[in-house]
Amino acid sequence: MLEIPQRRRQEAFRPRIKVSDEARFFRGWLQRPLVMGAVSPSSRALGRAMASYVPDPETFKPNSKVLELGPGTGVVTQMLIERGVPERSLVLVEYSTEFCRLLKARFPAAEIIHGDAYGIGASLPAWIGVDPLEAVVSSLPLFTKPDEMREQVIGQSLDRLRPGAPFIQFSYALTTPVKAKKIGAKLETSPWVKRNLPPARVLVYRSDRTASPTAPAVRRAV
Ligand SMILES: C[S@@+](CC[C@H](N)C(=O)[O-])C[C@H]1O[C@@H](n2cnc3c(N)ncnc32)[C@H](O)[C@@H]1O
Repeated sequence: MLEIPQRRRQEAFRPRIKVSDEARFFRGWLQRPLVMGAVSPSSRALGRAMASYVPDPETFKPNSKVLELGPGTGVVTQMLIERGVPERSLVLVEYSTEFCRLLKARFPAAEIIHGDAYGIGASLPAWIGVDPLEAVVSSLPLFTKPDEMREQVIGQSLDRLRPGAPFIQFSYALTTPVKAKKIGAKLETSPWVKRNLPPARVLVYRSDRTASPTAPAVRRAV
């Protein structure tokens, strides 16, 4: 019998996964366009660019966690694992029931929370942030929410992160979803990832304790 090399078998398998993920994603967008914020999943290139801002997993403690908000079909999650983040260190917060089911099947060792990521200060389990949070990685469509909610989700995340650790967000927009000074943070931006359609870039917010004295008030609002 003719042996198909492993690499060719993987390549033959990949498109089928991709097509069904894109169909799932598009169906989600038809049902709730403002929740989905995009018509198709992120590219692996964008996921890889986001994952590259996560601190070196070699430096993690055994109970370290990386929190992902809006993981969708898990493209970015997979890139976090390829970066070396242990699957058991991942906490994924996803709004869609269908995506939660998919994520549980794909990442059985990760903690999957079916919930609202904007409730990070109120409705999410109190234990989030008790273990050291090494990074928060977000694919939330922030521009579909008012300024205060965007500021709160990033500000509340920075409060739970280790000092200097990143809140990592992708964006298609030319403007930033949150002005860093407004939440007492500093902002780093990546080059545009052109292999993503549409091109996107990565925004990295880190707490800057010397910045605006109004920041704590914004964070207390949730
Ligand atoms: C732009 S898509 C993410 C794409 C993901 N990176 C992928 O490629 O599959 C936004 C995701 O955020 C989720 N989402 C939107 N609002 C949310 C919320 N309030 N809490 C948790 N997840 C949310 C959506 O269900 C969707 O999966």
